[in-house]
Amino acid sequence: MSLIIGNWKMHGLKDALGEARAISGGAAMLPEDKHQLVICPPYTLLAMMAEALMETNVLIGGQDCHPSPSGAHTGRISAEMVADCGATYCIIGHSECRDELGDDDELLSRKVEGALRAGLVPIFCVGESLEIRETGHAETFVNGQLDVVAKIADRVIVAYEPIWAIGTGKVPTVEDIAAMHAMMRERLGGSTPLLYGGSVKPGNAAEILAVENVNGALVGGASLKAEDFLGIAQAAS
Ligand code: PGA
Repeated sequence: MSLIIGNWKMHGLKDALGEARAISGGAAMLPEDKHQLVICPPYTLLAMMAEALMETNVLIGGQDCHPSPSGAHTGRISAEMVADCGATYCIIGHSECRDELGDDDELLSRKVEGALRAGLVPIFCVGESLEIRETGHAETFVNGQLDVVAKIADRVIVAYEPIWAIGTGKVPTVEDIAAMHAMMRERLGGSTPLLYGGSVKPGNAAEILAVENVNGALVGGASLKAEDFLGIAQAAS
């Protein structure tokens, strides 16, 4: 079973619900036991999308959450609010959030706890910069990022997303993906679904999803169009 998760980032107004419906329509044609499709839309579409996809086999996730259940935090959204919208999953520690919101390990650990408290499955993102990759320390760096979830590995999903591969069209070699995922499997054990993310497209999905210890994909740009997202899911069959 592959998990194919779409991260819509800050894309999509109400009319994008049509695309989500097209995704769920296409998903209904795919063999059910092969993949689970998930869309993580912006907060503004969460509740509407959850309702639109209620009777389908596509699930919904948030893109981040505040660690507290409620409080004086203007502009922020709690995991309980994400769950209340109908979500099942929540992305935590995406490199864009680490970068733009200054998420560090301590805060991320509290966010993961918050997601679990609210009954959401955290999709915890890790990944190195190009600089770290080029100095040969990518695995050590990612291993360090895994400290946040190592003790609760059976309750989370982990997505390896090299920062230099996100939205760039560049992807690591299958050997590099295999080596990183083997390290993560060794560290986290057998029960954690491990996703790869970073420029996954219909054209490269089959090759990436066939790599040992890759249990699915976290997809940004290519999840915005039903045809592309479904093409990636088909490659997982
Ligand atoms: P991308 O984004 O597929 O557009 O590279 C992946 C992600 O940021 O999750």
